[in-house]
Amino acid sequence: MKWLIVILCFYAGFASGRTEEDQTLSIPQIVNQTILAPDQCFYKTKDECPKVINPDDCPCKRIPIYSQDSPDEQAVYCCNLDSKNFESSLACANYSNHVSYLHIRNATLESFNVTGVKWRRLKSLALTDGKIKRIKDQFFMMTPTHCLNLSNNGLLEIENNSFTRLALLKSLDLSYNNITHLPAISGRELWIDISGTNTLWCHDISEYINKTGEKQIKFNRENETVCSASKTWHWFNTTERVPLKQVQYLSRLETECPRGLNWQCHCKFRRMDIVEGKQPTLAVEVDCTGNQLTELPQTLPHHTIALNVSNNNITILDDLSTNPTYADMREFYADYNNISSINKLEGSKFLENYAILSLRYNKISTLPTYILSPTIQENTSSSARSIKIGGNELHCDCNTAKFLKVWLQSRIMDADEVLCENVKEKVVELEPLKMCVYPGDWTDYIYYIIAGEIILLVSLITKVTYDYWVFKSKGYLPWPANKMPKLPCDWLCEMD
Ligand SMILES: *[C@@H]1O[C@H](CO)[C@@H](O)[C@H](O)[C@H]1NC(C)=O
Ligand SMILES: *[C@@H]1O[C@H](CO)[C@@H](O)[C@H](O)[C@H]1NC(C)=O
Ligand SMILES: *[C@@H]1O[C@H](CO)[C@@H](O)[C@H](O)[C@H]1NC(C)=O
Ligand SMILES: *[C@@H]1O[C@H](CO)[C@@H](O)[C@H](O)[C@H]1NC(C)=O
Ligand SMILES: *[C@@H]1O[C@H](CO)[C@@H](O)[C@H](O)[C@H]1NC(C)=O
Ligand SMILES: *[C@@H]1O[C@H](CO)[C@@H](O)[C@H](O)[C@H]1NC(C)=O
Ligand SMILES: *[C@@H]1O[C@H](CO)[C@@H](O)[C@H](O)[C@H]1NC(C)=O
Ligand SMILES: *[C@@H]1O[C@H](CO)[C@@H](O)[C@H](O)[C@H]1NC(C)=O
Ligand SMILES: *[C@@H]1O[C@H](CO)[C@@H](O)[C@H](O)[C@H]1NC(C)=O
Ligand SMILES: *[C@@H]1O[C@H](CO)[C@@H](O)[C@H](O)[C@H]1NC(C)=O
Ligand SMILES: *[C@@H]1O[C@H](CO)[C@@H](O)[C@H](O)[C@H]1NC(C)=O
Ligand SMILES: *[C@@H]1O[C@H](CO)[C@@H](O)[C@H](O)[C@H]1NC(C)=O
Repeated sequence: MKWLIVILCFYAGFASGRTEEDQTLSIPQIVNQTILAPDQCFYKTKDECPKVINPDDCPCKRIPIYSQDSPDEQAVYCCNLDSKNFESSLACANYSNHVSYLHIRNATLESFNVTGVKWRRLKSLALTDGKIKRIKDQFFMMTPTHCLNLSNNGLLEIENNSFTRLALLKSLDLSYNNITHLPAISGRELWIDISGTNTLWCHDISEYINKTGEKQIKFNRENETVCSASKTWHWFNTTERVPLKQVQYLSRLETECPRGLNWQCHCKFRRMDIVEGKQPTLAVEVDCTGNQLTELPQTLPHHTIALNVSNNNITILDDLSTNPTYADMREFYADYNNISSINKLEGSKFLENYAILSLRYNKISTLPTYILSPTIQENTSSSARSIKIGGNELHCDCNTAKFLKVWLQSRIMDADEVLCENVKEKVVELEPLKMCVYPGDWTDYIYYIIAGEIILLVSLITKVTYDYWVFKSKGYLPWPANKMPKLPCDWLCEMD
């Protein structure tokens, strides 16, 4: 903090000292002093343009500059130059190769040649808001330019190696131009602005990021920056304006891909999703097969639409309905795992949107069809949805044979591979007649027992009535009543 104050004081002193000196030199066009930070381009507004009233008036002017590095520097600001008055205008402002800062506004040029002694001491060069078609040739070695502003010129081309010798370049503004390729830059940390230059190929930018590393290249106004995707490049099928974010994301995908201590998933782009009215997004697919995972990966890359976790030891599907990074999932493959229940999927967003749910060869024994069914009625396009649960062993009973079998055949792609856990049969081969008279069904016995009891009761009453009639009319008791031992109640009969 202390040294900052010291520097500021030093500055203030310097600035006032300079003013006197300049005034004693009596440079005609004294303008307000500009103190410039090292990574700022020298830039003047339109209102500050030199006034040109007579044809003799110079469209350029000198401006004293005070920068942190070295105070003894000169800047030149020019407006409305073209190829005819270019050299003479610079000359009338006494432009020399000692000038460190140059801003030329509204230059109309076929091309701008950056080779030349003129430019070799420039710390900042701004050619803005004009019409320049090409940037040609190459800066001299050791040119100390740290800021280059070529904004808003409708540039069509910058020669590939033009800037490669600018070893100190920190800020490059190429916004609002029509270039299709980025020029090569030396691999230093760099702020670059390509907003409004929608003609750049995403492919180029991606290569740029890949080559220089994302930490080294930073984009100004990146939220407003788009690039063009070519027909021939990767997953970009059509020529589209793709947000820069997506391209940056591309180089980040591998680092966002789920991994653990001894496992690693693989992520790649599946396609570009184009929804009208929205910016196109890149859809990601993730492959985590054969990793001995016991649970689903906790975070997936953004906009993951497909996940393959086959051949693992996953037991629960909770993440599919609760984890926000699973929100865009359309295709889910978890074949050959230990999943025993799909109950957790009930009412999940996944079931509203999915295209494929594959849970083949798991441990699912009950299938609550109501969880998977409602989608049919809600959405007519749901016929495109497919569920696979072949290789699971369901608990089979009469209901399975009567109803689930039909349901499976209408909804499940591999219905003919769904097995029964308790009978050695496929569900689709179950016969309702056989399953529904299954002897183990105890409710059937009850009817037999009740019927038997009723028959027994009726015959007992009949026998007693008959015995009574015989006893009354014939005077003796038929067998077996006469053989039975006397009971206390018998005395009642014998009394009359
Ligand atoms: C210097 O700047 C002040 C305000 O910052 C402004 O009012 C004044 O007109 C400027 N002078 C010149 C010569 O540009
Ligand atoms: C470059 O020039 C443009 C257009 O005049 C301006 O908007 C922008 O701020 C300048 N960029 C830098 C880095 O000075
Ligand atoms: C740009 O400069 C040309 C002359 O080179 C002039 O005709 C034109 O009006 C200028 N445009 C602006 C916006 O100042
Ligand atoms: C350029 O230099 C000449 C003499 O060397 C001087 O008369 C003139 O005023 C200078 N012009 C500017 C804009 O500094
Ligand atoms: C650029 O200027 C330099 C020197 O002024 C010259 O040698 C070179 O040929 C020019 N390049 C082009 C492409 O015009
Ligand atoms: C640059 O692109 C803009 C917008 O696409 C267009 O209006 C302009 O005419 C183009 N300029 C050149 C020089 O091609
Ligand atoms: C541009 O130059 C770089 C290195 O200087 C090179 O790798 C690249 O292929 C060149 N690109 C084109 C389009 O010439
Ligand atoms: C860009 O957009 C993201 C979210 O879309 C936001 O978090 C970020 O702050 C924005 N950056 C700028 C510089 O506006
Ligand atoms: C590209 O588009 C064509 C036709 O629009 C389509 O047939 C093809 O499947 C698409 N390719 C990809 C990778 O999306
Ligand atoms: C980056 O470049 C390397 C080598 O050229 C390549 O293997 C890799 O796939 C590239 N990465 C991306 C994200 O394009
Ligand atoms: C999922 O992974 C398994 C095992 O690697 C593979 O056999 C299967 O084809 C994959 N499924 C899809 C849809 O890619
Ligand atoms: C995963 O399951 C296989 C077979 O079911 C078993 O051999 C293996 O030990 C299990 N791995 C883990 C990490 O549970």
